[in-house]
Amino acid sequence: MMPPKFQLLALVLFALAMLFIENQIRKLEESRAKLERTMARFELREVEQRQNRDTVRESPVLSESDDLLIIYNRVPKTGSTSFTNIAYDLCAKNRYHVLHINTTKNNPVMSLQDQVRFVRNVTSWKEMKPGFYHGHVAYLDFSKFSVRAKPIYINVVRDPIERLVSYYYFLRFGDDYRPGLRRRKQGDKKTFDECVASGGSDCAPEKLWLQIPFFCGHSSECWNVGSHWALEQAKYNLVNEYLLVGVTEELEDFIMMLEAALPRFFRGATDLYRTGKKSHLRKTSEKKPPTKESISKLQQSDVWKMENEFYEFALEQFQFVRAHGVRERDGELFVLTQNFFYEKIYPKVN
Ligand SMILES: *[C@@H]1O[C@H](CO)[C@@H](O)[C@H](O)[C@H]1NC(C)=O
Ligand SMILES: *[C@@H]1O[C@H](CO)[C@@H](O)[C@H](O)[C@H]1NC(C)=O
Repeated sequence: MMPPKFQLLALVLFALAMLFIENQIRKLEESRAKLERTMARFELREVEQRQNRDTVRESPVLSESDDLLIIYNRVPKTGSTSFTNIAYDLCAKNRYHVLHINTTKNNPVMSLQDQVRFVRNVTSWKEMKPGFYHGHVAYLDFSKFSVRAKPIYINVVRDPIERLVSYYYFLRFGDDYRPGLRRRKQGDKKTFDECVASGGSDCAPEKLWLQIPFFCGHSSECWNVGSHWALEQAKYNLVNEYLLVGVTEELEDFIMMLEAALPRFFRGATDLYRTGKKSHLRKTSEKKPPTKESISKLQQSDVWKMENEFYEFALEQFQFVRAHGVRERDGELFVLTQNFFYEKIYPKVN
């Protein structure tokens, strides 16, 4: 046994040693924390640098989106002016150009030489990119002209009888958009019902044949009233050549989907449409809804059956796209955010 004096000394020494070790551990921990902070800062800087590199690498993609062309080959009296006005209202803020394609006598079919001129001009006119072109022209297939970039086609369709009635009164009374302008059939007071009852030409079933040929395009068969080939071609183009086709009856949802898909052009469009609903609507003056008799008389024609089939095909396609793109919450629609991701990316970097 040690004498008590030494026992006390040993205890003191032990306590001192413990204090020393504890102090060293604390110092080590402190320097580790410092090291971790430094490493975190370094990693952050690396991430930032990588992001900067990525944006630099992405810039060709960005300029590619600035190369974008949209063609809206609007069908007359589908409520298209309301939508076109949105494009005009946003073009300064979202930095793109809007151009109206004005064909002589509003002829929707262009000559072959004009097709070449138009395609060459639109695709090479850098000052007008990104550009939004709209006009009453039939679908034109850019891939036939050996150009590198094809435009994005969009459009809006409407219930065929409602479109015809609207067009009928538009020719006679104009609208509140350009009230002073003299229209082709101005002065003719005959109602749509009277026209149908007397078998007039402006309300004949053949006049329904318009949305199919507009989507079908520049082939002769497209303009043969009642052609089944034209109907199939119109459906084919709608699905394969158009990014999105809306319906007049659900224009707000069409604009919302466009904003979600093409924010480069349509950022702010939904809000603008909602707040300015009245100012963007254009009403055909003096329009009288047709009677059930007039409607059922038109519905007996084969042309109506085909145009209606095309309209319902477009409607179903639009509702399908919408159902996959939005969710409803408290009676309001919201577009979904990105729902696809990447993983298992090989080969691993470093
Ligand atoms: C189309 O352009 C011509 C020539 O610039 C013009 O006279 C005509 O009024 C225009 N038509 C429309 C509907 O804007
Ligand atoms: C396209 O056509 C317009 C109007 O005719 C013209 O002013 C412009 O220079 C043309 N652009 C190109 C690239 O051909």
